[in-house]
Amino acid sequence: MSQILAPAHVQAIAPYQAGKPIEELAREYGLDPASIIKLASNENPLGCSEHVRAALAQAVEHLQGRYPDPNGFDLKIDIAAHHQVPAQWVTLGNGSNDLLELASLALLDEGTSAVYAQHAFVVYRLSTQARGARHCQVPAKAYGHDLPAMLAAIAEDTRLVFIANPNNPTGTHVPAADVQTFLAQVYQRYGNQVTVLLDEAYDDYLDPEERADSAKWVQQYPNLIVTRTFSKAYGLAGLRVGYALAQPGLTDLLNRVRQPFNVGVLAQQAARVALADTDFLAATHHLNRQGRKQLQDGFTQLGLEFVPSHTNFVLVQVGDAAGIHGQLLRRGIIVRPVAADGLPQHLRVSIGLPAENARFLDALADILKS
Ligand SMILES: Cc1ncc(COP(=O)(O)O)c(C=O)c1O
Repeated sequence: MSQILAPAHVQAIAPYQAGKPIEELAREYGLDPASIIKLASNENPLGCSEHVRAALAQAVEHLQGRYPDPNGFDLKIDIAAHHQVPAQWVTLGNGSNDLLELASLALLDEGTSAVYAQHAFVVYRLSTQARGARHCQVPAKAYGHDLPAMLAAIAEDTRLVFIANPNNPTGTHVPAADVQTFLAQVYQRYGNQVTVLLDEAYDDYLDPEERADSAKWVQQYPNLIVTRTFSKAYGLAGLRVGYALAQPGLTDLLNRVRQPFNVGVLAQQAARVALADTDFLAATHHLNRQGRKQLQDGFTQLGLEFVPSHTNFVLVQVGDAAGIHGQLLRRGIIVRPVAADGLPQHLRVSIGLPAENARFLDALADILKS
């Protein structure tokens, strides 16, 4: 049989490996799904807010056979008010992942390049590769982004720089002042020739004093896209909704390559309710801070090195990560190996409920003893 003809840059892609679904592990090991804990995809262990659940139940009652609003009018108004930018600067995505793809679709092709950090969110590499563009991975500094080195790596063909702040899978955070300096330098040197995409999927987990007013930066820099998601702190990972903020020039480009109905009716409605539920967000933040301490204290007690986290997961160095991952799976605990991110000795552990964190730490201690 003849080979399917596909471009070499597509054939070179190593597909994204998601955290193992609970049902899959249950099938593979004959486990009761209810006994499994999943700390592998940085989801919200509280689920979503009760208000969202109630609004969704109502929305289902009124569901018609119609497409969603392709322009997400109401949700954009809410997001715009939240960030104090014009609604025309908001682009909705099927998760923020969609917006990363849209940016690379709009800005990259063969003969161009994208710059991102070593151990940065893997989709930057994947979406760059999918366009046939050159990817320039800049060595990490203490697991985090080295912004001066990333600035130096920008070349004549560079059209896009990805920054994850905080970053996944390392949990590192670059101080706002450093990001601001970087944005100013890139714009001063390259103007609109180089777009910076600042991915703030985990911004809601930062402490208030660490947070940047990135919407203000969007007002300052026409070459900046900021992305956010409802998947993490808002607990809507299953509904797939995220957004980008950018000035009209970039927003127009993103919309040229966007599928018209990329965010469903229920997702749009849920996101509006989630955005307004500040109590749920505060409860999430509080629980996450406690769980982070619980995990990090546990790792210290076990004598394991970890990267101090600014997110809802912790990267911990365990040595034989693949072996330990396998043993955890057999005990019904799903965490994330990160060898594909260049970290073969580490596991990434999402912060769960206190009892889930404790069960994971007990299992890890047991495995390390044997
Ligand atoms: C840094 C970062 N950006 C973006 C995303 C995409 O998430 P979503 O498409 O659910 O918004 C993730 C998901 O894990 C992430 O870790």
